[in-house]
Amino acid sequence: MGRWPGALAHRGFRQLSLALVLSSFGDWLGFLATTALASQLVQGFNAKSWAIGGVLTFRLLPAVLLAPLVGVVADRVDRRLVMVVSDVLRFGLFLSMPLVGSVGWLIVATALVEVLSLLWIPAKEASVPHLAGDQLQSANQISLFATYGTAPIAAVVFGVLGVLSVRTGEPAAHIALFIDAGTFLFAAVQVFRIKDIPSRATVSPSLEEPPTLVESVREGLRFARSSDLVRGVLVGMLGAMGATGVVVGNGKLFTETVLDGGEAAFALLFGSVFVGIALGVAFGPRAVHGVSRHRALGPAIFVAGGCLVFMSVVPVLALVTFATAVLGWFAGLAYVLGLTLLGSEVEDAVRGRTFGLVNSLMRISLLLAVAVGAALAHLIGVHRIGEIDVNGVSVTLLLGGLLALTVGMLSFRILDDRPGVPLRRDLVALVRRRRASRSARPGLFVVFEGGEGAGKSTQARRLAAVLEAAGHDVVVTREPGATPVGAKIRTLLLDPATTLSPRGEALLYAADRAQHVASVVRPALERGAVVISDRYVDSSLAYQGAGRSLPQQEVAQLSHWATDGLVPDVTLLLDIDPAIGLARATGSPDRIEQESLAFHQTVRQRFLELAAAEPDRYLVVAAGLSPDAVHAAVVARVLPVAPTPRLVRT
Ligand code: TYD
Repeated sequence: MGRWPGALAHRGFRQLSLALVLSSFGDWLGFLATTALASQLVQGFNAKSWAIGGVLTFRLLPAVLLAPLVGVVADRVDRRLVMVVSDVLRFGLFLSMPLVGSVGWLIVATALVEVLSLLWIPAKEASVPHLAGDQLQSANQISLFATYGTAPIAAVVFGVLGVLSVRTGEPAAHIALFIDAGTFLFAAVQVFRIKDIPSRATVSPSLEEPPTLVESVREGLRFARSSDLVRGVLVGMLGAMGATGVVVGNGKLFTETVLDGGEAAFALLFGSVFVGIALGVAFGPRAVHGVSRHRALGPAIFVAGGCLVFMSVVPVLALVTFATAVLGWFAGLAYVLGLTLLGSEVEDAVRGRTFGLVNSLMRISLLLAVAVGAALAHLIGVHRIGEIDVNGVSVTLLLGGLLALTVGMLSFRILDDRPGVPLRRDLVALVRRRRASRSARPGLFVVFEGGEGAGKSTQARRLAAVLEAAGHDVVVTREPGATPVGAKIRTLLLDPATTLSPRGEALLYAADRAQHVASVVRPALERGAVVISDRYVDSSLAYQGAGRSLPQQEVAQLSHWATDGLVPDVTLLLDIDPAIGLARATGSPDRIEQESLAFHQTVRQRFLELAAAEPDRYLVVAAGLSPDAVHAAVVARVLPVAPTPRLVRT
């Protein structure tokens, strides 16, 4: 399908992506430029803090108040028209900001721009499936990149304008706003040229009207009471959002009055926090791989809070820049951890609604924090107490930091799934593992375990399909019998006519495994693939160890020797009552399936014990759930720890 990878192969989607990149870039640049302009139009700390706070508050307000309405509008009007008109109007509004030059108009225009963006986004979202065809996953990745990846670019552009403005005397904010106007005009033309956007929803508009603000909050509270996990995650994420809001609301004033920096410094901070977030989202989960997510979320927020406290007391640009990047990294990590935790806890049927709810709660807390943060800085003002300069902005950042520290601790307390085990131990283990794995493999080793008829092979295939669609190199394999030698061993092992001593059986499984690891698993892991194996060492521990009553330690040593110590990154235990599982099996039972129900019950028990002993590595899923529910839980566990995929061409 041509030279373009993934969804970009579709011409319409390519055009839309360019429009999206331009609009997103415009949005970010607009954010920087409007705050800068607000500060430039007035004089003095107090006036500046009001102006900036006003611009930011009115920028966020439409999303909170109008979000429920716009989705409905977007489903009923011509999408291309919505996008084009919204872009043209935004062109005019951005152009007017520097030309009119009053704070009042700046605030009004900012709010209007926001309303238009709110209309643009659902129209775009609704068009994507038509334009991207069956490449939806890749399309979503690209949209995500376009939306957030443009933030650092905007920061760089604004920084350069800031440096130039010192030379030319032309304020960076003005030039940035003109550029902004240009990007929206260009985006309008671009969208206008896409002919294949269906004008209206081809399916009937969504039946469920999105909740209003009050409903969201009420439902959020009810939801938070539903389980410790949900409460812990919500507390953490809302707190983190609050701290972020304090930074966003005070960033401009902070660079200006505390760091004595200009527009370039502001852009630098903005850029570094975004680069931090992006890296944290992309690599964070992998970096803390092995530490339970329940135990990682709180500390991630805590460290982010620590960075804020540090910034507020050490006002040195270079150090502050570094601290904001670290802050972004941990915030990004916390975001992914929180969403994944919710994703694995919440039932599939209500997942969409839940995430919608979490999103709107986060927006509300961001808005509150921006507004409260700006107001607080303003109220405190600038004083000189003895030898020390007290600046409202620093104090507010300090308070935001303390809030994040508290929230981090709270959420750790609520979520801790191994209370009593000091966190220090996790950290030591993490450092050791990282050292050990640096020389080792770049891939990911995922194993499905469970009794007969648990649906392992189906789930393995479905997981592989998802990972492949996300661009991973995936190898699906199984034990026993994945290699030519293994196939012969398998025949021996499963033939009901074979008589085998328990030790003979254990050795044959081990021999198959040794061959499997050496010729299939390791080579694939070394080239960075995701290997999904249907059964591995734990099957021997359960069937030969518990089932055949061989000493557990000896079976473990045998497998360790056979695999040269290769341990899976993730083990997915599909747990099923053997009475049900065996009934699902079709065909004549093999040698192992012929064993008594009691045998299979012992095996199941051992699997569960193995999982309980290492909760970080295992996910236990009740295989009695619907295949879709099992699949969703499996994907939620594996995707976040998968290595970064290389985009493959289709
Ligand atoms: P298979 O047909 O692959 O079973 P399933 O579809 O349930 O995975 O047969 C593998 C059988 O071998 C299964 O009954 C479990 C048993 N087994 C062991 O006893 N020890 C082991 O180490 C392994 C890998 C499998």
